[in-house]
Amino acid sequence: MASSSSSSVPALAAITCLVGVCWVAIGPLRPESPPLWTLYPFEGLQNYTSGIIHHVRLTGLKPNTLYFYRCGDPSIPAMSEIYHFRTMPVSGPWSYPKRIAVVGDLGLTYNTTTTISHLTSNDPDLVLLIGDVTYANLYLTNGTGSDCYSCSFPHSPIQETYQPRWDYWGRFMENLISKVPIMVIEGNHEIEEQAENKTFVAYSSRFAFPSEESGSSSTFYYSFNAGGIHFIMLGAYIDFTRSGKQYKWLEQDLANVDRSTTPWLVATWHPPWYSTYHAHYREAECMRLEMEELLYSYGVDIVFNGHVHAYERSNRVYNYNLDPCGPVYLTVGDGGNREKMAVKYADEPGNCPEPSTTPDEYIGGICAKNFTSGPAAGKFCWDRQPDYSAFRESSFGHGILEVKNETWALWTWYRNQDADNKVGDQIYIVRQPDKCHVRQVLKSWIDDI
Ligand SMILES: [Fe+2]
Repeated sequence: MASSSSSSVPALAAITCLVGVCWVAIGPLRPESPPLWTLYPFEGLQNYTSGIIHHVRLTGLKPNTLYFYRCGDPSIPAMSEIYHFRTMPVSGPWSYPKRIAVVGDLGLTYNTTTTISHLTSNDPDLVLLIGDVTYANLYLTNGTGSDCYSCSFPHSPIQETYQPRWDYWGRFMENLISKVPIMVIEGNHEIEEQAENKTFVAYSSRFAFPSEESGSSSTFYYSFNAGGIHFIMLGAYIDFTRSGKQYKWLEQDLANVDRSTTPWLVATWHPPWYSTYHAHYREAECMRLEMEELLYSYGVDIVFNGHVHAYERSNRVYNYNLDPCGPVYLTVGDGGNREKMAVKYADEPGNCPEPSTTPDEYIGGICAKNFTSGPAAGKFCWDRQPDYSAFRESSFGHGILEVKNETWALWTWYRNQDADNKVGDQIYIVRQPDKCHVRQVLKSWIDDI
């Protein structure tokens, strides 16, 4: 909420505080930012022009403070209702948001409404959305869904995407995210290829990212602090190789993390490295081979992923081996998507996919090969639930992370079909900084580069 994007208009916010309560008047909003356009110059497809999308940078906000705000132009008059939000607590080893909601692959379905209702009742201070936001790309411009796009438009070289779904989704989410800060990372459904090879247009226009503040030159990867947690948001559908810009940025960002201020290091990206479902099995292996060692060397504690439409929690793992210093991987691609739920496991008889069919076209070539060691050595899949998979279940839901102190955090997964307070899966995640030696780079040394 206090972040910005490259299309931000100059700050038009006046902030006044009295007895610990602050007011922000945002406006008048003028159309300095262009609307976003989505162009499909092919017969039978419709173009789309959004309304004006404003981003306002609020500066000078105090930590852990309740702000009331209105947006609009009082001269018309056209002001919004009064909303409020609370800023994150100050960074420090004893300072954490109480509850962080984590959800992926939301969409806008009956399942989504249950997920968001359940999530809202858990009263989060921050929401993380791990990609696949609206699924607009699975709807035609006549507003209906299409399971066979090429049947509907056999002569269109690219697939249209029904942009009003983004507006529907925004209106549906307004009740929650007008009050609770949300941070998002892109999924494959945000690619939305359109004319002139443009991609991610709606995603990059509709959300504001602290890219500039975190030294990133891209909306596709960035980082931020929330109390004593440093979050790293990574892009899986852009270059992640060691010679690329994202990797160089990641090296620098990790080197800058001060674990005495932010003991917890949490990374997120959309497609999971450690999923045992048949759907998308080992699909992001090329990304894992490039980045896992670097994240491990800096002691990432938790990884959140989406993409696979089910829930799974890993044991601490590194390079497919159980490792007490590896991250816990939590896959929460079960937010409510328009597609089907993942129910088959790759380790069940007949469900192991042919390796050549597993790569995603946007991620890269065939990197997943037969395991070289362990109980599945010489095979592409295990013949039982892999030991790195601790718990898996095909239900819609969401998770809540509660960091208690610098070494203990409680993770809880809630199923949609359960009563609000019934727990689907729960575990304490315990950091062991005395046992897991984290690579540290002296700040002064970095500054000299
Ligand atoms: Fe996805």
